[in-house]
Amino acid sequence: MNDKIAYSRHGDIAVLTVQNPPVNALSQAVRQGLWDGMDRAEADDGVRAVLIVGEGRAFFAGADITEFGKPPLEPHLPDLINRIEASPLLVVASMHGVSLGGGLEVALGCHYRIAVPSARVGLPEVHLGLLPGAGGTQRLPRLTGVDAALDIMTTGRHVEAAEAHDLLLVDALREGDPKENGIAYTRKLLDENAPRRAVSEMPAPEPIDWDAAFEATLQRGRGQISPAWCVRAVQASVEKPFAEGLKAERQIFYDLMQTDQRQGMIHAFFSERAVSNLPELKGVAPRPLQNIGVIGGGTMGAGIATAALLAGLNVTLLEMSADAGQAARDRIEKNLSGSVKRGKITAKQHDQILTHTLNVVSNYARLSDADLVIEAVFEDMDVKKKVFAELDRVCKPGAVLASNTSYLDINEIAATTSRPSDVLGLHFFSPAHVMKLLEVVVADATAPDVVATGFALGKMLGKISVRAGVCDGFIGNRILSTYRTAADHMILDGASPYDIDTALEEFGFAMGPFAVADLAGLDIGWAVRKRKRAEGLDPRARDSSYADKLCEEGHFGQKTGKGYYDYAAGPRARVPNPDVMPLIEAERAAQGLTPRHFTDKEIVRRYMAAMVNEAAKVVGEGIARRPLDVDMTLLFGYGFPRYRGGPLKWADIVGLDGLLADIKGYAEKDPYFWRPAPLLEQLVAEGRTFDDLNKGT
Ligand code: 3HC
Ligand code: NAI
Repeated sequence: MNDKIAYSRHGDIAVLTVQNPPVNALSQAVRQGLWDGMDRAEADDGVRAVLIVGEGRAFFAGADITEFGKPPLEPHLPDLINRIEASPLLVVASMHGVSLGGGLEVALGCHYRIAVPSARVGLPEVHLGLLPGAGGTQRLPRLTGVDAALDIMTTGRHVEAAEAHDLLLVDALREGDPKENGIAYTRKLLDENAPRRAVSEMPAPEPIDWDAAFEATLQRGRGQISPAWCVRAVQASVEKPFAEGLKAERQIFYDLMQTDQRQGMIHAFFSERAVSNLPELKGVAPRPLQNIGVIGGGTMGAGIATAALLAGLNVTLLEMSADAGQAARDRIEKNLSGSVKRGKITAKQHDQILTHTLNVVSNYARLSDADLVIEAVFEDMDVKKKVFAELDRVCKPGAVLASNTSYLDINEIAATTSRPSDVLGLHFFSPAHVMKLLEVVVADATAPDVVATGFALGKMLGKISVRAGVCDGFIGNRILSTYRTAADHMILDGASPYDIDTALEEFGFAMGPFAVADLAGLDIGWAVRKRKRAEGLDPRARDSSYADKLCEEGHFGQKTGKGYYDYAAGPRARVPNPDVMPLIEAERAAQGLTPRHFTDKEIVRRYMAAMVNEAAKVVGEGIARRPLDVDMTLLFGYGFPRYRGGPLKWADIVGLDGLLADIKGYAEKDPYFWRPAPLLEQLVAEGRTFDDLNKGT
């Protein structure tokens, strides 16, 4: 026994209480403690039953993820669970909080399961690029049937206790203390002489069309393979004796453990938690947040207001006129109705928000009690400066003043106020009440507690908040403009927008860059190009104007029905716009370029090399503090495939030296665009990875 498991006797019941905060992960010490606890109970005179219960927040959150990728330590979880199940004593699990992955598998190895109604269970291993590897794929279908088991393990969703009870996964539900409940339930089972009931000895479930289920799951995974492999493991539960099925499951689990997808998913799991955890904010208290002001109620302002309202904050939205105010209110109402449809709020809450917590105004004086104001007016420095001058005039001392600008200089905006330390950027993504990413842009003078308040707001709104420094486009849009430029260069040299979108969607992006441009509106890129040309392009930079011609003809993408694609049959039924290739061919001819063929592989390699190189500059310049900040920005704001972990994790996996060599190779033809990032060169020279920087080594 060790300090992870407390052993106590309650008459003829031995209780093993797990104490491994915060979430009782099944680390080696916990597994060993449970094993020893079972030995002790079996040797303890008069003990007839064992109750396993968790202390604190959960029964068990699953295997200890920090042990993955290292040599496995004995006792292995599947062996422990088999040992629990084979015990001559009656073994009962009492579940509360979450029972996930290996945690649910321990419960499935017990002979009976009781849960409190608030408990949730699940097999979320697919979110780590794995499948249940301690008997879950073999035992769960024997209890619930194949369809329900596959639904639970391929989605990784959390199942509420009531549903788990209906599925026969949990035998009894009872409100109260998990330990007291468990003891009472075990006593009842003993009094009734309930038999030991090993799930492994239950009959195998009915088969399904395994190949069809495998293919359908693979399709739904959009490149992620572990959900489809759950189908093959469950197939083994039906077709093989239990012990053989367990071996088949274990083999697939080990194979998945070796994949890049497992590495990528686990990197995402820990980075998602580390991203808002900034050393500089330790001990810095955020300012209070209850009343939020929003300036401008267009696409972004209305989305930001919706997110704040859904989080229970009071919102005062300022627009230029009564008409514009009404249009903003209508947008918010539409967003909130969507939330009612998705079951996020009730119809009553929807009405209450619109009548009580949202105020639409046109007079700045109404913002005098706002704790934080977010400006989301047109992307124009003069307009923004005027707004900030007004805010400076009316806002109470200590109010946080934020801009949602996509590209403009927050330092310049802050300097127009008498309180630059209260100013920062809060860059949301469209639609702001749906997209998870928030860039917290820290300007030169921003006070630490203002940064902390930005992160606190992100948390309240359910966002993944990333710290960014000031530069053209911050982290995300700056990297986007570089990889988008690489794509534009490939078009000039012979690839089509459709080749590029297909190759990148195959790589795992939710949408290729040209489909994304159509969705965001081609006018946005057009405005940026015009601004950059007005500022003066470097004579060495390649430029093209075919996309401007599309815009000049009024084609802005989905919102006008045409862009790179034609959307006559609806936003999801895109077909290439036949006007685009002639414009591209004319541009190539005008520049005297002879088109060549690009393979999918080369498209991905150039696109990713451009992304990684710019990301390395962003980290090297301190715009992003750590590589993981870039990875989370691309994952949550730009549709980067989660199972690849992020661009810098991807770069570590494919090898930094090869990437740098390719960048140098591309630079022979275009040395201006392909300037290697100093940080990339340094890491290659030192034989280190981006992930080493995350760990601070
Ligand atoms: N192993 C190691 N650490 C874990 C962990 C696990 N399984 N689950 C959570 N943690 C850590 C988190 O990293 C975090 O650490 P930090 O405080 O240092 O950042 C801490 O526990 C608290 O976690 P959260 O901040 O996520 O707390 P929440 O209350 O928001 O969520 C949770 C709790 C629902 C348990 C969530 O952490 C979660 O989903 N965990 C992962 C569950 C999971 O995937 N289990 C399956 C593991 S794989 C497996 O079991 C394989 C088996 O089949 C063989
Ligand atoms: P939009 O054009 O949809 O909305 C702007 C709104 O601001 C309009 O409703 C307008 O009436 C109002 N407005 C303009 N001047 C005002 C003033 N002086 N006082 C009060 N209201 C005023 O623009 P959108 O797309 O919402 O963008 C707003 C800001 O958000 C811009 O800075 C943009 O760069 C940024 N942004 C846009 C994203 C997008 O995908 N659209 C994503 C992230 C940031």
